[in-house]
Amino acid sequence: MTRVLVTYSTKHGSTAEIAQAIADELREKGMDADCVDVAVASVAGFDAVVLGSAVYMGRWLHDARRFLKRHLEALSAIPFWIFSSGPTGEKAEEDLAHDTRWLEPRKVLDLAASAGLRGHIVFAGRLPVDPHGFVETSMVRSTPPDLQDARDWEGIRRWADDIASELERTGARRGGAA
Ligand SMILES: Cc1cc2nc3c(=O)[nH]c(=O)nc-3n(C[C@H](O)[C@H](O)[C@H](O)COP(=O)(O)O)c2cc1C
Repeated sequence: MTRVLVTYSTKHGSTAEIAQAIADELREKGMDADCVDVAVASVAGFDAVVLGSAVYMGRWLHDARRFLKRHLEALSAIPFWIFSSGPTGEKAEEDLAHDTRWLEPRKVLDLAASAGLRGHIVFAGRLPVDPHGFVETSMVRSTPPDLQDARDWEGIRRWADDIASELERTGARRGGAA
């Protein structure tokens, strides 16, 4: 069975829930998927990796950036995908399509591409349910409650399905057969 590591960095928990949904869907599709906080994750023993981070002020969280750098060589030997979670509120979809501040940070994409990244995606996110400080509190206050959680669970599952299909089709090893 293909062993997939789904690993994430989160500040307020919503990216962890996206990662969990991806791992659940991969299991549904017959993969052996583990969902692990990136702070304690290791690539060893896995056939493929999905790495995700929340985006704050245009940047991935530190632990996710560190994981990508530390494990770049190991990642270059296996298929891997990345996702970011970010946009919320009524402009979530528009932001995703048109506003580069809401894309994966360029440096992360370039680094991942250098290791043979298979695919990447930006998911809409959820504003903190426990905001800290002035910036977070004002963002939450200025967004209507029903738009604070913009996560698209169907879209998340579809992306996980695509990953499972690609792993089945091409095999777990980069460019090789299963
Ligand atoms: C202070 C603050 C800054 C943010 N900056 C960005 C950003 O630059 N780009 C983006 O896409 N989302 C941004 N967001 C939205 C978060 O990425 C979103 O709420 C995410 O789902 C949070 O994930 P977490 O719950 O895993 O921490 C920001 C949110 C806050 C509260």
